[in-house]
Amino acid sequence: MAATDWSPKSWRDKPIRQVPEYRDADALKTVEKQLSSFPPLVFAGEARSLRKSLAEVAAGRAFLLQGGDCAESFAEFHPDNIRDTFKVLLQMAVVLTFGAQLPVVKVGRMAGQFAKPRSSGTEKVDGVELPSYRGDIINGIDFTPEAREPDPQRMLQAYSQAASTVNLLRAFAQGGFADLHRVHQWNQSFVADSPAGERYQETADRIADSLAFMAACGVNGQNTPSIAKVDFYTSHESLLLWYEEAMTRMDSTSGDWIDTSAHMLWIGDRTRDLDEAHVEFLRGVVNPIGIKCGPSLESDDLLRLLERLDPKNDPGRITLISRFGAGKAGEHLPKLVRAVQKAGRNVVWSCDPMHGNVIKSESGYKTRPFDRILREVQEVFQVHQAEGTFMGGVHFEMTGKDVTECIGGAHGLSDKDLSDRYHTHCDPRLNGSQALELAFQIAEMLKEGRRDVSFREAS
Ligand code: PEP
Ligand code: CO
Repeated sequence: MAATDWSPKSWRDKPIRQVPEYRDADALKTVEKQLSSFPPLVFAGEARSLRKSLAEVAAGRAFLLQGGDCAESFAEFHPDNIRDTFKVLLQMAVVLTFGAQLPVVKVGRMAGQFAKPRSSGTEKVDGVELPSYRGDIINGIDFTPEAREPDPQRMLQAYSQAASTVNLLRAFAQGGFADLHRVHQWNQSFVADSPAGERYQETADRIADSLAFMAACGVNGQNTPSIAKVDFYTSHESLLLWYEEAMTRMDSTSGDWIDTSAHMLWIGDRTRDLDEAHVEFLRGVVNPIGIKCGPSLESDDLLRLLERLDPKNDPGRITLISRFGAGKAGEHLPKLVRAVQKAGRNVVWSCDPMHGNVIKSESGYKTRPFDRILREVQEVFQVHQAEGTFMGGVHFEMTGKDVTECIGGAHGLSDKDLSDRYHTHCDPRLNGSQALELAFQIAEMLKEGRRDVSFREAS
């Protein structure tokens, strides 16, 4: 049951950061009212299934794959983009399932990932200072005073885009596209030509053989729905609380409050203060919740956050997403892991190797070196191995498009390539082949980890 001292708007009494100031309060109110009368984008039963699946991850019996854009944009809204990111996530999931022999819980940073926290409230170009771009749901990316003015109407466009996106994702996930028999067709041409794509082709051949064998034994898509369909969930940072509040509804069957804007919501590293608005809002909704854990997070504060957001210590409620940067996990992660273990907390430990690894390239682009991303995953994996906990998931900024935003990877993208197809509205994303390459590396790690565990258990 919902907390009695909480309501969808109780966050309004708390200090808040990283949200815009809307000049026209009436315009904001009108939009909130409209949004709160619109259909929900997800249902309580779906959020509960995701919680159940995440509880499996917390117990070490499944793996979480969460990925998608840093910031979805109105300009990049196109069915092909949604399809291509979905395809790469399916490919990664197949590689992880096949390699690690674990079910993979698939969650997109899609269908609502629009609002962005910024390190500075303003941006200066050639002596002109304007408010920072905060994501298409808030203001425009063009460097003009008009574009940068926060406009509540943008929430309606974001809702509409999220609704079409989640509709298409449901169709892809349940309507035949994600049938394992199509495993070869998910390999897009630009990925297929990469080393990871070639390796994927081999995996796909083996899966096709296994499916043919299983069919001969009588196991097929008709009697085993998980061959023909996948569960695919949506997620985004719960940042723009007027939008989140307006999308929050009471589930009539349970009396629980659910934020129907996405299945899973996370709190960013800049807005996770215990007594502030973002934590207040999320403590009252039943969705699974992610908490970004950056270098400034102290163990005591983390325990207090867990107590506040998950008083019943329910497995599947909380996913802790560490994001320290390559070379830093060894310093920060063990103390958090030990504190959480000692407190007997049930959590999913996921690794975001993106947000601690942003650098400025020599030519001036914001980029992320593939090597550093991989190194952070390896380091986090080793910490969990040493502590006896399970690295249960990964969190990536990635796209199915052939972009050139992160340097490195098997294609050896270099600084001079960045300008070719640098399209992101915010942080640099992995392209399809880089994302797939990482999936293979992670599958290897998980496989070895399982071998170590069974070796330890046997000896
Ligand atoms: C993000 O996930 O896009 C983000 C801003 O992350 P963090 O809060 O970890 O910096
Ligand atoms: Co980002």
